[in-house]
Amino acid sequence: MSPAEAHPGASDAPGALAWDIADKVVLITGGTTGIGRATVEALAARGAHVVFTARDAALGQTVIDEVTAATGNPSIEQRQLNLDDLGAVRDFASDFAADHPALHVLVNNAAVMLRERRSTVDGHELTFGVNHLGHFQLVCSLLPLIQASAPARILNVASDAHKWVRGIDFDDLSATNGRYGGRRGRQAYAESKLANMLFTRELAKRLDPAKVTVNCLHPGAVRTRLGRDTEATRFSEVFWTVIGTFFTTPEKGAQTTVWAATSPELTLVSGQYFAKSKIASPSKKACDDGAAAKLWKISEDLTA
Ligand SMILES: NC(=O)c1ccc[n+]([C@@H]2O[C@H](COP(=O)([O-])OP(=O)(O)OC[C@H]3O[C@@H](n4cnc5c(N)ncnc54)[C@H](OP(=O)(O)O)[C@@H]3O)[C@@H](O)[C@H]2O)c1
Repeated sequence: MSPAEAHPGASDAPGALAWDIADKVVLITGGTTGIGRATVEALAARGAHVVFTARDAALGQTVIDEVTAATGNPSIEQRQLNLDDLGAVRDFASDFAADHPALHVLVNNAAVMLRERRSTVDGHELTFGVNHLGHFQLVCSLLPLIQASAPARILNVASDAHKWVRGIDFDDLSATNGRYGGRRGRQAYAESKLANMLFTRELAKRLDPAKVTVNCLHPGAVRTRLGRDTEATRFSEVFWTVIGTFFTTPEKGAQTTVWAATSPELTLVSGQYFAKSKIASPSKKACDDGAAAKLWKISEDLTA
């Protein structure tokens, strides 16, 4: 499907191709490692002012030093953010808005996949709390700045893993019914990635794509630290280590995010799922408008 098919009128709208990432302000969550780290470098190389979040300031400084040396772009900044604390997310957003006149691209990239059930500061299950709720709060808090910076883009790094589950278990969002231990931690992760997709769908309906677009994407199977804590048995640890040798590099994994952040032809494309740098088909569950509206309402209540 071409962008024009995805959004009729896209190609002939005035300004549809007027998008250049150079000098734009980009915020990437989880820029210390993996796909996020590779995205920081790729967008810095294209001249953006890149802000990334870190939890470890020393690690963040190492990323700044390495990326500045590799790209020659001195305009790279780290900010501390822990997505498992909703109050901290709100404070982060207001500090960010006070310090930055604009935010043109927000990449919601950070995520966890866990072996043991753990809780956020606010008492939510950690996978759902970080991967969905923390980013929901971040987007809602930064939306006035993003809208004032239009044209702007929001990108949610989701996953084809959303296809592993039948839907969101709205009766057990805190995952207390034994969804933990080995493979089941992966199930909680898959649900959180489906939440990323449903959030994208509902948010796209609420935004004017001529001002702010929101899309989600699958980066591919990428060799990163994600999932390092999930292996419950020696067998599954060896299994995933072997499988991991077939996975791609973080640099290749960042390509779809970079394409979605930089491509002029996507100026008016919103509410889509991308993979391999093109529009892809999500599962039916990810197109469930009822579930998307329900998740939005619950997320509003949980972050109130
Ligand atoms: N790897 C894959 O094969 C794959 C496939 C499909 C989708 N994805 C998606 O791609 C994205 C990036 O994953 P990755 O594979 O690059 O993972 P990764 O290497 O584990 O990196 C995750 C990033 O998230 C940050 N993070 C974790 N918990 C956080 C918290 N509570 N608050 C703030 N930041 C936190 C980490 O920061 P710290 O350094 O502080 O821990 C790290 O920078 C995720 O959304 C993932 O779901 C990955």
